[in-house]
Amino acid sequence: MNNKLAVNTEVKVGKVKLKNPVLAASGTFGFGEELAPYYNLSKLGGICTKGLTLEERRGNPPPRVAETSSGMLNAVGLQNPGIDVFIEKILPRMLTFGCAIIANIAGNTTADYIEMVRVLNRTEVTALELNLSCPNVRVGGMSLGTDPALVSEVVTACRQLTDKPLWVKLTPNVTSILSVALAAEEAGADALVLINTLLGLAVDLKTERPVLRNNTGGLSGPAIKPVALRMVQEVYQGTSLPIVGLGGIASAEDALEFMLCGASAIQVGTASMIDPGLIFQLPEDMAELAQAFGHDSLARYTGKLQPWNKN
Ligand SMILES: Cc1cc2nc3c(=O)[nH]c(=O)nc-3n(C[C@H](O)[C@H](O)[C@H](O)COP(=O)(O)O)c2cc1C
Repeated sequence: MNNKLAVNTEVKVGKVKLKNPVLAASGTFGFGEELAPYYNLSKLGGICTKGLTLEERRGNPPPRVAETSSGMLNAVGLQNPGIDVFIEKILPRMLTFGCAIIANIAGNTTADYIEMVRVLNRTEVTALELNLSCPNVRVGGMSLGTDPALVSEVVTACRQLTDKPLWVKLTPNVTSILSVALAAEEAGADALVLINTLLGLAVDLKTERPVLRNNTGGLSGPAIKPVALRMVQEVYQGTSLPIVGLGGIASAEDALEFMLCGASAIQVGTASMIDPGLIFQLPEDMAELAQAFGHDSLARYTGKLQPWNKN
């Protein structure tokens, strides 16, 4: 229950209980360490770590980010210290933050995911978030999450290794998000997280080159919100799994819209890079908004959207 308001902010994502539905999205919040001196991290429902890989990665050469209309492109290239350093040096401190800690992991092969799930299974992380947007070496660098058969292979393998909640983060760069979502559900995922970034290109007219050194990058921010809402609604209607929704959320209104479309919880990414304080205010703002609409819980919003009858 929120102190000042008579609105219950608690939500559940499957068996994971969160004090509120607001999580920091992977890659836009680091490991929370930079913000810890300035903000009370226990105000958050949870934090998704920067994408972790088996070995340390230094990421792509710069420029890695470019501003676009109502959004940004990034090609950071999964810069991170590697899973072992995370577990030994970073996780112990994160576990003192007083919110759920979700380990976001990324691999090029099923074997990479298996190895990381094995070691994370022995830790106190709340849940594992499988980022399936990474290039797959076996199929010529195409994103692993675009192929339902590969998604099924990775999730099935991880499921056998852990009872920890497995959240599967989907790429929107597919024709049918539902086919991939169903593959993850059948393979034993506990929740679906959507969406990751949309593949894009920014061009520099002066140099006649792509702005990003990686040529292409992932589009995020308000520009992608309508696409994300549509995908969340489609997956909510087509599967039985809880959904964590994200893509362009920058206000309490945005967050409740995602919940109406079917999200049990939401994540904030790009907006934290513009205003790092916003995410900490969001749970209370959502509660205030819900109260203004005459509701006494945030969880009641999940899936309440009433689509128009097209006839
Ligand atoms: C700079 C940057 C780095 C990101 N790194 C990761 C990552 O390591 N793993 C991941 O699953 N998603 C990563 N993402 C994607 C976000 O978590 C999120 O899915 C996406 O940006 C859409 O949400 P937003 O519009 O609120 O930013 C990154 C996004 C940005 C902008």
